[in-house]
Amino acid sequence: MLVLGIETSCDDTGLALVDDTGLIASVMASQVPVHALFGGVVPELASREHARLIGPLLDKLLADSGKKLQDIDRIAVTRGPGLLGSLLVGVAFAKTLALAADIPLIGINHLHAHLLVAGLENPLEFPALGILVSGGHTHLIKMNSPLDMQVLGKTLDDAAGEACDKFGKMLGLPYPGGMYLDKLGQLGTADPKLFPRPYAKNDNLDFSFSGMKTAAALWLEQNPEARLPMLGLGEKYTDEFFACADSKAKNGAASYLYAVADTLVIKAKRAAQTFRPRCVVVAGGVAANSFVRRQTAEFARDLGVPIYIPKNAFCSDNGIMAAYAGYLLAKMGLCHGNNLTAIARGKPIPNDYKVLSV
Ligand code: KG4
Ligand code: ZN
Repeated sequence: MLVLGIETSCDDTGLALVDDTGLIASVMASQVPVHALFGGVVPELASREHARLIGPLLDKLLADSGKKLQDIDRIAVTRGPGLLGSLLVGVAFAKTLALAADIPLIGINHLHAHLLVAGLENPLEFPALGILVSGGHTHLIKMNSPLDMQVLGKTLDDAAGEACDKFGKMLGLPYPGGMYLDKLGQLGTADPKLFPRPYAKNDNLDFSFSGMKTAAALWLEQNPEARLPMLGLGEKYTDEFFACADSKAKNGAASYLYAVADTLVIKAKRAAQTFRPRCVVVAGGVAANSFVRRQTAEFARDLGVPIYIPKNAFCSDNGIMAAYAGYLLAKMGLCHGNNLTAIARGKPIPNDYKVLSV
């Protein structure tokens, strides 16, 4: 079963091929340089870039893998949640291919795909506790199967990635700052008491990270030496740049990331009391964060279950996650018709699959 995955939910255009042996090939184009100029993703530019890049990327994927369109058994495409214009480019492209080559289509829930890709190398055991942390989402999910997932809690305002990007911006880092903040924090020592655990003193499973940026802004006002120097024209954020940063910046970043990761763990612990997870899955762009990886690994160890975190390269948006989620659903005999719709952020993604004999 060879599955083509197509991901265009935000600002990364990713395509991949997965079969029974695992990942065959993947291609990817990031739009970070386009949006960095504006300090965030510009939806109109994102969809135009997807439309420009997606055709040549498919040609490259087929050339790299030595496969032909006719070899593909299913086309899996991210249908939501995401930016509607971006999703529409991927869905229209997938539908066109499906129609032209007579290949069944499978619409993919982007959040499920982030979590499921953790099983690409070690199949997941269900039910699993999913901790999904990205730039737009922070969800705790009870994963009953590749199809059946139940949201236990989610952020009421900022996502964990947004909280990292905002502190990064305050320190003077470029968008998206999460990865740089991690580099800086790894050079510092965390003071667990420096930043609060927002929205922890309650008994629910939701998050609210917006309080973190207020705490960070106050701290920065009292510790202005933590602000990073501006880079000169053509200069890059090298290891040396971070090594030379003020220790206040390094320790501040470490403490902030420690608090973000600890907040996730506090609620994940609470979620693990509502059912007996057989493993923990951490996924999404922020799963690449070294503090999040370490602190959630400790949590899973205390819980006595394995933890699965995708490789760093599979954490942020990519085509592999769509391909692998599609592969799992195809194995369950599921697909969509050519009336598949893209679903914008904020709207529920229906489980409106058709059953197709495998
Ligand atoms: O999953 P993703 O690629 O895109 C979506 O939001 O769907 O996640 C992107 C987010 C950004 O906020 C980015 O700053 C954050 O993941 N991120 C990190 C790290 N790498 C990416 N945040 C903290 N530490 C990292 N190492
Ligand atoms: Zn994502």
